[in-house]
Amino acid sequence: MDNSIEIGKEKVPALGLGTYQLMGKSGEQSVSDAIRIGYRHLDTAQYYRNEEMVGNAVRQSGKDRKEFFITTKIWPTDFTKRSFMPKVEQSLRELNAGYIDLLLLHWPADDNANDLACDLLNECIHKGYTRLVGVSNFGIPQLKRARQRMPVFCNQVEYNPYVDQTEMLEYIHDNNLLMTAYTPLARGRVNKDSALVELAGKYEKSVSQLVLRWFIQQKNVSPIPKAGSEKHLLENSQVFDFIITDSDMHTIFNLAIKK
Ligand SMILES: NC(=O)c1ccc[n+]([C@@H]2O[C@H](COP(=O)([O-])OP(=O)(O)OC[C@H]3O[C@@H](n4cnc5c(N)ncnc54)[C@H](OP(=O)(O)O)[C@@H]3O)[C@@H](O)[C@H]2O)c1
Repeated sequence: MDNSIEIGKEKVPALGLGTYQLMGKSGEQSVSDAIRIGYRHLDTAQYYRNEEMVGNAVRQSGKDRKEFFITTKIWPTDFTKRSFMPKVEQSLRELNAGYIDLLLLHWPADDNANDLACDLLNECIHKGYTRLVGVSNFGIPQLKRARQRMPVFCNQVEYNPYVDQTEMLEYIHDNNLLMTAYTPLARGRVNKDSALVELAGKYEKSVSQLVLRWFIQQKNVSPIPKAGSEKHLLENSQVFDFIITDSDMHTIFNLAIKK
């Protein structure tokens, strides 16, 4: 699991772990299992109420903090002068990992609130709270506006074989940004898709593996599947030992384009 995406001088582990709904002791066990398997890119958010659990798993792994790429997100109702910094400081305390690697605005608010939040994210970089900043669920006009105020590294958006992100991908590539793909397995729906089942069989891989490989073969795209069980975590990590042909890549792209 050493494949990484290089953007400027940054190296982001291509395959991440989504942690939404991983909670408490069982959640911590899943994140610990993931780290043991080799996951180093961990995606959390204030909204998930599990930053402390994610931080515990990281510290208990005994691995060097520098090996990890930890993303967290601030909820739009906190894009105010009064709330923003205290909320970031709360994330830092809960994660207890020294710093955040990538701090995102979870969803856009109105333009004025987004502008303020971007200015405050710049301050977070200067204070050493986070190394990188970015946004999530921003459309292209909002992303362009954010980039005028801060050094946006990433837009995290919903992306899977049923969601067409052609335009956003073009913008991401033109500007050498990272696209983090959330809900990459369409919450498990991909596994029941007969076209994907047939294609996965051709590669002797599971549908989840096929779909995750499809992301890995796209430039600057990092999928963050959530998995609770060790079986799924392991299965999802085994996507670096085969290559999908260009023609089969297009077959998967076409699932979204047809809709
Ligand atoms: N920025 C945003 O607004 C936003 C929004 C939504 C999500 N996210 C992030 O994206 C992450 C992933 O999205 P998601 O959790 O919505 O959906 P997802 O990753 O597409 O799907 C998760 C579901 O797929 C199942 N699964 C995982 N691996 C599997 C496998 N190999 N075989 C069969 N089933 C498998 C999981 O089951 P088990 O748990 O039983 O393994 C779980 O039910 C979230 O955890 C979160 O970090 C961000």
